[in-house]
Amino acid sequence: MTGNGRLDAREVRRDFPIFENNPGLVFLDSGASAQKPRQVIDAVAEFYRRDYANIHRGVYRLSARSTELYEAARETVRRFLNAPDAREIVFVRNATEAINLVAAAWGATFLRSGDEILITELEHHANIVPWQMLRDRLGCRLVVAPIDETGGLDLAALEARIGPRTRLIAVTHLANAIGTLVPVESIARLARKAGAKLLVDGSQAAPRLPVDVQAIGCDFYVFTGHKTYGPTGAGVLWARRELLESMPPYQTGGDMILEVTFEKTTFQEPPARFEAGTPDIAAVVGLARALEYIESLGRSAVLAHEEALTGYGVDRLSSMPGVRLVGAGQRRLAILSFEVEGIHPHDLATVLDRNGVAVRAGHHCAQPLMEKLGLAATTRASLGVYNDESDIDALGAAIRDAQRMFG
Ligand code: ALA
Repeated sequence: MTGNGRLDAREVRRDFPIFENNPGLVFLDSGASAQKPRQVIDAVAEFYRRDYANIHRGVYRLSARSTELYEAARETVRRFLNAPDAREIVFVRNATEAINLVAAAWGATFLRSGDEILITELEHHANIVPWQMLRDRLGCRLVVAPIDETGGLDLAALEARIGPRTRLIAVTHLANAIGTLVPVESIARLARKAGAKLLVDGSQAAPRLPVDVQAIGCDFYVFTGHKTYGPTGAGVLWARRELLESMPPYQTGGDMILEVTFEKTTFQEPPARFEAGTPDIAAVVGLARALEYIESLGRSAVLAHEEALTGYGVDRLSSMPGVRLVGAGQRRLAILSFEVEGIHPHDLATVLDRNGVAVRAGHHCAQPLMEKLGLAATTRASLGVYNDESDIDALGAAIRDAQRMFG
């Protein structure tokens, strides 16, 4: 943090060993997965060194300690989301698994033929395909709300698509492919009015926005740990307690049962009911440390930093001849998707990499959105707490290099 309360990215970067070990790395792919601070790396290593045993099973003290750390992580996530109750936090592998869990356990139980699931054109495949599968199984309808010509969500058009059979609205909080911020609070009001549930995919939002599930007013909120500076292998489903209580298990096996006989099985209360088998315990412990790390930087400071840097990136890229930023509506955050005239995104990303700049190129797991935009692919720079203006300048210089090479 600098004296004026803003994040000092140079100082933050010192927490991330990847930069020490890769001199000159300009990492602009945090949207795909964020780098890990030493606080997280050390917490995971220390957990394995000192506290590791299986959880919820052993009567010995080491297992009790491991269990305590795992359950303490649940409380950290509760605080991070301002959820009312830690029992509403379910640990899963990632956001994809969280959405699949809701589709399989809630959707398959409560949706009927003719019911409607409303999504948007901005969604990642993980928030499209599970609903398509459910549609095909149950005979539901998948309704899609469009973006407007600027790349923002057309809220009026979304409202117009809500009908008497709308049971679920499933939307991204921050679109991974183009960076559109979605007004989830307004959508929650519309969902409530219609008696529909709202699921928010917070994969890109959780690392950078102060998320408050009670203020949003949603019913399900999902995010993944590896984009919030935590390890891969741990993600989160938050759901209102009464919803979790009404849902049957998603997967079955160890640690989610009360009693098993060959005739019948009774299940644990949530969240244990949804955590079958030995989870990635160390990743959950690391995730909690990552969320504490974000909190230690200050969630408003992180947001202000990424907002300022997004603005700088927009100005820089839009002033470059031959570079076209893909629109993200009025509210873009942390993700800059762009095209460079005459250069295929994959070729561009390869040249950028030769200049030390790591970005993602492709459809970003959002093929329907790309199709709507009339694009096969884009090049995408996405920001993290360790980036600053010099990274954007390096991106600009590398793009110029590619333009010279292909010009
Ligand atoms: N969903 C991740 C991305 O946007 C992988 O790149």
